[in-house]
Amino acid sequence: MRDFYPEEMRKREWLFSVWKEVSYLYGFEPYDAPIVESLDLLKRKAGEEISQQLYSFLDKSGREIALRAEMTPSLARMIVSRQNSLSMPVKWFTIAQCFRYERMTKGRKREHYQWNADILGVDDISAETEIISMLVCALKKLGLGKDDALVKINSRKIVEDILRSAEISEDLFPKVMIVIDKKDKVSPDDLVEMLEAIPLDKRSAERITGTFEKCQTEGVRSVLGENENVREIESLLENLGGFMDYISFDTSVVRGLSYYTGTVFEVYSKKGSSRAIAGGGRYAGLLEKIGGKPLSGVGFGFGDVVVMDVLEEAGKIQQSGYLLDYYIIPYDKTHFSKAFEIAGAAREKKLSADIDFKCRKVGAALSEAVRKNARFSVLIFPDELKDGKIKIKNMKTQEEKTVLLSEFPVM
Ligand code: HAM
Repeated sequence: MRDFYPEEMRKREWLFSVWKEVSYLYGFEPYDAPIVESLDLLKRKAGEEISQQLYSFLDKSGREIALRAEMTPSLARMIVSRQNSLSMPVKWFTIAQCFRYERMTKGRKREHYQWNADILGVDDISAETEIISMLVCALKKLGLGKDDALVKINSRKIVEDILRSAEISEDLFPKVMIVIDKKDKVSPDDLVEMLEAIPLDKRSAERITGTFEKCQTEGVRSVLGENENVREIESLLENLGGFMDYISFDTSVVRGLSYYTGTVFEVYSKKGSSRAIAGGGRYAGLLEKIGGKPLSGVGFGFGDVVVMDVLEEAGKIQQSGYLLDYYIIPYDKTHFSKAFEIAGAAREKKLSADIDFKCRKVGAALSEAVRKNARFSVLIFPDELKDGKIKIKNMKTQEEKTVLLSEFPVM
């Protein structure tokens, strides 16, 4: 798990500020929940990786609880408990720290932050249109252009149609989907082996891989013909026309979580990093599963780890706009009370101020002002102070001017 020193925090704050800015631009409201939930809520039995990666433990009352590995179960729980009073559609966002006991590789940590945005209460693809255009807006604001990132869109309903055409029994669909999600990460032989472990006979397993292969090479219509689920995705792509450079329809996207029922999508870097930057989809049955009334949702999780790697590789990381207005440098300890007075005057005017408590020599104190990203340094010298004056140095232009203390702060 990670520590964030101030240098890393500046980058993280910048990323979070873009996520928040885009959320508000699209009219989403913030929400939050505890990082622990009951193990029962988080654990599903579809054989998903995420269920095996939970940090779970007994609390002092012997209850089974776990650190959240994602936000969606907590969101569903919150919606269910106020389902009668919430006004629909719900458009909520959060930036949540999530914990997964993963094998650590590039892009995978045991703890990460995830920006989540979800719309609940809209059954048609207008919700997908909003969610995916918001995702692309965030990519753009982070500086990732159409040559850097790609949103791959598919539908679980299409995957189900493909499995049906490969004559696979419906009760096996959830388990098969989770294996199919690994398709691009393992060899064809390993994939067949994983399908056999479901268990599925070898011929069925090969039929599945063969049918997906055909969709990939000859197009999905060569397998499914005229198909309403394909048509639905086509209208979604049409709706997203303005973002077409960032988007492609791809039958290989399945997603590894079992609750998705319709549209699924993943964002990938077009260069290097193979792990998804973000992923999400439509979940129509999740709320009912945890005791709510039927309510369909669509949303995504956008992690901080992969996108930071991608931005680093592209040289596009920015820092938060954190700036110190004044770094106050007292001549010696006898000038501390004056330094506090000056800092107080600045803070009173909503200007940030910090004091050199170490009373360094001027050169060293000015270097510290640079490190702190200060706009101005305030130098308190005994001679000038006798005349009620202080020196202000503009750290960018290096210009210095002596001003009356009574007139401070002058920006
Ligand atoms: P997910 O695909 O499991 O989806 O995670 C979403 C994103 O979180 C991934 O694309 C990745 O960027 C990041 N992520 C996940 N695990 C790790 C890890 N161990 N280390 C670093 N980054 C990671 C979900 O969690 C869904 N609940 C998203 C969702 C919201 N679907 C609907 N609404």
